[in-house]
Amino acid sequence: MTGNIGSGFRSVDGELFSKLLHCLDFMNELAFFKAYKSHSWRSLLIAPEQVILDVACGTGSDLIHLAEAYRNTNFVGVDNSEKFLAIARERAACAANLKFMLGDGHRLPLVDHSVDAARIDRSLQHMENPEAVLAEMVRVTKRGGRIVTCEPDWETFVLFNGEFDDSSKIAGLFKRSIRNPFIGRELASLMNECGVKHLDAHVHTFWTNKLNDADVIFDLNKVKDQCAAAGMMTQDDADTWWALSKQASERDTFFASLCIMEVSGTTE
Ligand SMILES: C[S@@+](CC[C@H](N)C(=O)[O-])C[C@H]1O[C@@H](n2cnc3c(N)ncnc32)[C@H](O)[C@@H]1O
Repeated sequence: MTGNIGSGFRSVDGELFSKLLHCLDFMNELAFFKAYKSHSWRSLLIAPEQVILDVACGTGSDLIHLAEAYRNTNFVGVDNSEKFLAIARERAACAANLKFMLGDGHRLPLVDHSVDAARIDRSLQHMENPEAVLAEMVRVTKRGGRIVTCEPDWETFVLFNGEFDDSSKIAGLFKRSIRNPFIGRELASLMNECGVKHLDAHVHTFWTNKLNDADVIFDLNKVKDQCAAAGMMTQDDADTWWALSKQASERDTFFASLCIMEVSGTTE
C-alpha cells in the first residue's frame, strides 16, 4: 500500500509534507479541534513559573496559543520534523517563554524531572513504541506532575454516504494505515503501567457532513483509489463512492466521525 495522510505523519519531512501541513492547519481552525484542545490544556493545570512540555508539537500551534495565554509559564515543544519546527519557530515570532527542540519522542532531549507537566496530542498513534514515549514523558516530569494525552481510536472511525460496504472498506483501509489504530483505548492502561495515577478520561467526538473537510483530514479521495489498487473494490466502485459522497455532502447527509480519547493523570 502506498502512503496516505494516515501513514505520512510517521515521517513528516518527505514527499507528503505540503499535504500534511495543510491537514494540520485546516484541523486547527475547526471548532471541534479548538474545543477538545482547550479541554486538554485545562487538564494540564498550568500555573505561573512552571515548565510545560508538548511532545510531537508539530507546527507549535498549541504552544503558541498557550505561551500567549500564560505569559509567566515556560513552554517547550519537541518534534522530529525539522520542517514543522522551522514553521513553529517562525510562527512563534520569538515568544520569550517558548522554545522548540528537535528530538525523538522515544529519547526526549530533556533531563529527568525537568518539567511540571507534559502533553502529547494525536501523535502516539504514529510512533513505533507508544509505551516508551509515555515512559519518557514520565521520566522528564517532576513527581506529582501532570501527563495529558489525546489520541483517536480508529475503530470508532465511521464513513457513510448512503452505501454501507464500500464506505466501511474505505474507513478500514485508512484505519490500517495508522501504525497504532487502537491507541485511544490503550491510553489509560499504558499510562498506568508507566506510573501515571489518578487517571481521568474524556471522549471527544468529531463529526462532519462535509466531504471536503473529511477529505482534507482523512485523505478520502486517495484512500478510495488505494482500495481499488488493493483489489478491495473496482475503480468504478471507488469513483461511484466518491460521486455518491459528493451528492450526500451537497444534501448535508454525508457522515464521517471519529472519537478522540483524552486521558490525564498525575505522576507518582
Ligand atoms: C498529527 S501530528 C500532531 C501535531 C500536534 N501535536 C498537533 O496536535 O497539531 C503528529 C506529529 O508527530 C510528530 N512525530 C511523529 N513521530 C515522532 C517521533 N518519533 N518523535 C517526535 N515527533 C514525532 C510529527 O512530526 C507530527 O508533528
